[in-house]
Amino acid sequence: MRKKIIAGNWKMNKTLNEGLKFSDDIKFELKDIKPKAKVILGIPFTHLEKINTNSEGIYEVSAQDCSSKESGAFTGEVSSSMIASTGAKFVILGHSERRAYFYENNSQLAQKVNLCLQNQLQVIYCCGETLSERNENIYFDQIKNQISEALFHLSLQQISSIVIAYEPVWAIGTGQTASAEQAQEMHAYIRSLFLEKYGQSIAQNLSILYGGSCKPSNAKEIFLKEDVDGGLIGGASLNTNDFLDIIRAIE
Ligand code: PGA
Repeated sequence: MRKKIIAGNWKMNKTLNEGLKFSDDIKFELKDIKPKAKVILGIPFTHLEKINTNSEGIYEVSAQDCSSKESGAFTGEVSSSMIASTGAKFVILGHSERRAYFYENNSQLAQKVNLCLQNQLQVIYCCGETLSERNENIYFDQIKNQISEALFHLSLQQISSIVIAYEPVWAIGTGQTASAEQAQEMHAYIRSLFLEKYGQSIAQNLSILYGGSCKPSNAKEIFLKEDVDGGLIGGASLNTNDFLDIIRAIE
């Protein structure tokens, strides 16, 4: 059976001390909840090592990006091997904010994916269309390009380390969620792309998360859809109670 995952994405929020307090709070509750999903926190690079140690294995930590270079004279960059050395097991790649504000493209993302896999890091690969792409009815093509150009060079073995997060750009941080039907439609399409390229077993085992204004009030309806295997949670992952309620929503 494929894995259910609830991943938080703190973006550029929380100091280290605030993060450690959040970790203490959710650890306590998670012991009680016994979540039906793997819980992952996408946190700033500076927090990875300490919060990973603090997690006591009750949840996993993830970076939110990594360099497309292996090492060397790239001031300010953080490599995938550095991330792996903190104990983190995941990296979020291709988030729409990185694509929009830092001009990341699919071929650069393919390099980042390769480096993460070389360093035994699993990748949560984000894809999603803008509102105008949806309105122009080219959103399936856009998702297909984002996925095939960054991922479809991978081998059967490598692709099993990939988790997909479908995050329609028009739903991120806007309060406007995709309907459960819209999410299901795209998730089923994404799974069909993997079926065509990698076959039944990979497609059936691929976890596809929904992201975009997911909150306690709408999480359950979305998570009940057949091809939705959990969520990538931005704003609501900053608040302990909201994040825990979203974790409780997974069945
Ligand atoms: P949001 O962000 O839940 O605040 O919409 C989701 C994301 O960007 O991963």
